[in-house]
Amino acid sequence: MSLFKESYSALICNDPDDKVALTIELLKYLEKDLGSKFEIKKMPSPGRPIKPRLVSFNGSPKRDKSDLGMIKNIHAICHIEFNAINLALDAIYRFQEMPHQYYLDWIKVASEESHHFSLLKNYLEELGHHYGDFDAHNGLWQMSVDTDYDVLVRMALVPRVLEARGLDVTPSIRKKFCESKFTKMVDILDIIFQDEIGHVKIGNYWYKYLCNKRGVDAVQTFDELIKKHIGSNLRGPFNTEARLLSDFTRDEIQYLEHPKQP
Ligand SMILES: [Fe+2]
Repeated sequence: MSLFKESYSALICNDPDDKVALTIELLKYLEKDLGSKFEIKKMPSPGRPIKPRLVSFNGSPKRDKSDLGMIKNIHAICHIEFNAINLALDAIYRFQEMPHQYYLDWIKVASEESHHFSLLKNYLEELGHHYGDFDAHNGLWQMSVDTDYDVLVRMALVPRVLEARGLDVTPSIRKKFCESKFTKMVDILDIIFQDEIGHVKIGNYWYKYLCNKRGVDAVQTFDELIKKHIGSNLRGPFNTEARLLSDFTRDEIQYLEHPKQP
């Protein structure tokens, strides 16, 4: 076995509990040789259960502040964390030429994402629901497909745009749960938020490592990639404090707030 082969097995695994177990298994590679390389295949969609049914953003369930609306919110976050496990596994499996520390970092991210998913899945079950009970967003994997051609592009856009967006929006989501009867979510969101700062930090570290290695400017390259892959979908407002904690520079935050027009 090798880290790359086992990450692939976890990535294509359809059953959420098995995926979590296979992901936790990868922690053994923190202490041992990563093993041999493994064939890299395109991945139009990762392993996932039949339910939830994936629908376009516009068709996603409307979520109000009713009990059911809040449970649908929990389900939506649970689905994001399920996808985050796959994103971390793909970061390991797809890019097999990075320094050893890169894999140690992403194994840690994958295991924390599986912890987040399990916390939310278990909470849904406590509330009498299951992961898969409601429709979910179909677009979350697309950025992984779009960035599968280069680890620099992946590091630029998945942790630093998609995951970092979580840092921007969590405080307002947390407030909504504080005011609801689902206060257990506040504790879960606090765990997720702390861990996600670390994940974005890891993304920033490897993005800047790669920019340095290739002799390209981090902000200018980010600008080019934003224009190519994100365009007007770059959403603020940005959580400056959390982004600084995740090692975004002031220049990058300044860029995000005032991206150059095409
Ligand atoms: Fe997460």
